[in-house]
Amino acid sequence: MAQGRFHNKIGTFAAIAGSVVGLGNIWRFPYLAGDNGGFAFLIVYLIVSLLVSAPVMLSEFSIGRSQRCNAMRAFRNISSGPWFLIGFLGVATAYVIDSFYMVVGGWSLKFLQLSVTNAFQSLSADEVAHTFSSFIADGSSTVLWSESTLIIATLVILLGVSGGIERFNKVLMPTLLLLLIVLAINSVFFLPDSSKGIEFLFKPDFSKISYETVLKAMGQSFFSLSLGMGAMLTYSAYMPAKQNLPKTAFSIVAFDTIIAIISGLAIFPAVFSFGVDPSAGPQLLFITMPAIFGQITGGHFLSILFFLLVFFAASTSQVSLLEVVTAYISEELGIKRRKAALLIFATMSITGGMCALSQTGSDTFVFFGMSLFDIFDYASSNFMLPIGGLLIVIFAGWVMPKRILHAQLTNGAEDESITFKGLRFLIRFIAPIFVALMFLNLIGLF
Ligand code: TRP
Repeated sequence: MAQGRFHNKIGTFAAIAGSVVGLGNIWRFPYLAGDNGGFAFLIVYLIVSLLVSAPVMLSEFSIGRSQRCNAMRAFRNISSGPWFLIGFLGVATAYVIDSFYMVVGGWSLKFLQLSVTNAFQSLSADEVAHTFSSFIADGSSTVLWSESTLIIATLVILLGVSGGIERFNKVLMPTLLLLLIVLAINSVFFLPDSSKGIEFLFKPDFSKISYETVLKAMGQSFFSLSLGMGAMLTYSAYMPAKQNLPKTAFSIVAFDTIIAIISGLAIFPAVFSFGVDPSAGPQLLFITMPAIFGQITGGHFLSILFFLLVFFAASTSQVSLLEVVTAYISEELGIKRRKAALLIFATMSITGGMCALSQTGSDTFVFFGMSLFDIFDYASSNFMLPIGGLLIVIFAGWVMPKRILHAQLTNGAEDESITFKGLRFLIRFIAPIFVALMFLNLIGLF
């Protein structure tokens, strides 16, 4: 039995939102949208999110809330045979992702400190690039900052499901939204030529939409919604019994997309206003943006808000990754949550530290020319997540007894409504086919 429960609907929503809103929303979605048809991409993104991602999320919710235990045991309870391996894969994926996610969390914390000391004042982009590269090349410093984020996440876990996770997200998520809105208002209304950025983000270009774009949108939606690795499953084990699952899933999709769009509005008007090339990933967050803050009025203050935002986004996601592993270790080894959390802290300090060190530019923890950080990133997003997601929907649609899905999706209603039939159809047919195509595309076979 899960060792904890979220108190209410708002807390549950905040916790799930905390998991899904992460770096994917800030450093990937806006660029992907701008680069792939703007408003046209957004429409495609929403369609695949509703038809493919939401059903996968509902599958995870149903498995998790019906069993109220960690990912591996949930599969084992429902069905004998090798299906428990899906849960095991999920736990392993969470571990792998967290090992490199904590490193990026560390970067954001370091950049928050640099913002507070106004270190970007009047620096050129090249100078900021130099600051960033010398920081990640300094092993002891990156390890230290990464470990700090792990300590924070572990403390939240130690405080418990409701007293820690729920409370942390209930404070951080509204703050995150507020920070983002302030930054977006500043970019849109107070920077010269901000309309160019808005145009980049939204100008519809339907000619850019191909099957490739659809699969890209799906990959992004999948990652952004934290699917395929038991994170949603683990949190749903703590959900109130009365929570309406379809409503929750669709509002999470909406919220996650809105955050991604507002991130775009905070970032791209600034980027275009300064005539810099738009980009994605670490370059955008840790080079382009600080350089812009170094030039604009109020940049000192705005950069603090910005890196606070990035840190909150990363930290709330990190907590959910850690919880997947904590629930598993504590229930399977039959030890207290606290003990499990400390055990994980000890091992994750090592693997995360190795990921941080693999980025320093020396040969430490570099295998076949790829850093451990990149290997973990690549393996999780290209293999572990899509395979996990595919197996989860197949399990929920074809292996798990229909009555469990029905009871979870309708909260125990008598009849099979048309909504239930529709959702079950998506879970059984549409989602598996599209997730399989996405996987084949990711590994270059389609
Ligand atoms: N959704 C997160 C983001 O947008 C990343 C992520 C993927 C994640 N899978 C996860 C976070 C599992 C927490 C748990 O950045």
